[in-house]
Amino acid sequence: MNRKIIIVGATSGIGRRMAELSAEQGYNIGVTGRRKELLEEIRKKFPEQTEYECFDVTGPNNIQHLETLTQRLGGLDTLIISAGIGEPSKILDPAIDKVTVDTNVRGFTEIANWCFNHFASQGYGRLAVISSVAANRGGLHAPAYNASKAFQSNYAYGLSLKAGRINKNITVTCIEPGFVATKMAKSDKLFWVVPVEKASRQIMKAIENRRRKVYISRRWWLIAKILKWAPHWLYKRFG
Ligand SMILES: NC(=O)c1ccc[n+]([C@@H]2O[C@H](COP(=O)([O-])OP(=O)(O)OC[C@H]3O[C@@H](n4cnc5c(N)ncnc54)[C@H](OP(=O)(O)O)[C@@H]3O)[C@@H](O)[C@H]2O)c1
Repeated sequence: MNRKIIIVGATSGIGRRMAELSAEQGYNIGVTGRRKELLEEIRKKFPEQTEYECFDVTGPNNIQHLETLTQRLGGLDTLIISAGIGEPSKILDPAIDKVTVDTNVRGFTEIANWCFNHFASQGYGRLAVISSVAANRGGLHAPAYNASKAFQSNYAYGLSLKAGRINKNITVTCIEPGFVATKMAKSDKLFWVVPVEKASRQIMKAIENRRRKVYISRRWWLIAKILKWAPHWLYKRFG
């Protein structure tokens, strides 16, 4: 029987490549995003294996869409939350910060909770959260983004504790990428940029291996630790 995976935010970037890799590995895939033409493209490429739901995660019907998709797939083993937004907010633009919180915090929480409860009632499943190395410290260029990613990483950890406590076969994998070569990597000071192909393969492997926490690529672990432990007097010069 084919395994069933939903990727929330699969129209572009890391989510898109993970959807394609999953289909190539024989999964039945449920893909989502706001850009319908790109979801259609994926279905055209893998017509036998693809279902999609076109929706905005900041909207009111996340759960309905996920239930419909799960029904059409005939079940769900793995769900990856890749949908996310990260815009610089130099002047603390309220519109940018609202959409960041609505997407990366409110929509994220609804989807993660629905998924966890679904897996808890069926007794198994793998949930993966694409957070960011930015989760490890506040940042002056996009304070809402760093804070929202800290929320996601912390939330994923809480869910992994919950999975252990209820003693079900559920894994929650928290992924913290550094810079990945998608349109989201906007800084003019990029370094150690990871190609989308490499990032997507490493993430799929981490989920398969039921890892609790991974950095993409592995050397970004070092940046995460520096962000966490650098003293304030030093960090404020570079952060
Ligand atoms: N690229 C990096 O350097 C980097 C580094 C660390 C972490 N990340 C994280 O990796 C994840 C994937 O980002 P990416 O780099 O692959 O960028 P991307 O190409 O911009 O992909 C973002 C995906 O999220 C979806 N999305 C965004 N807002 C949405 C909304 N309101 N409703 C539904 N779907 C929405 C987009 O689909 P639609 O536009 O079609 O809705 C798209 O499929 C994000 O969570 C990001 O924070 C990226």
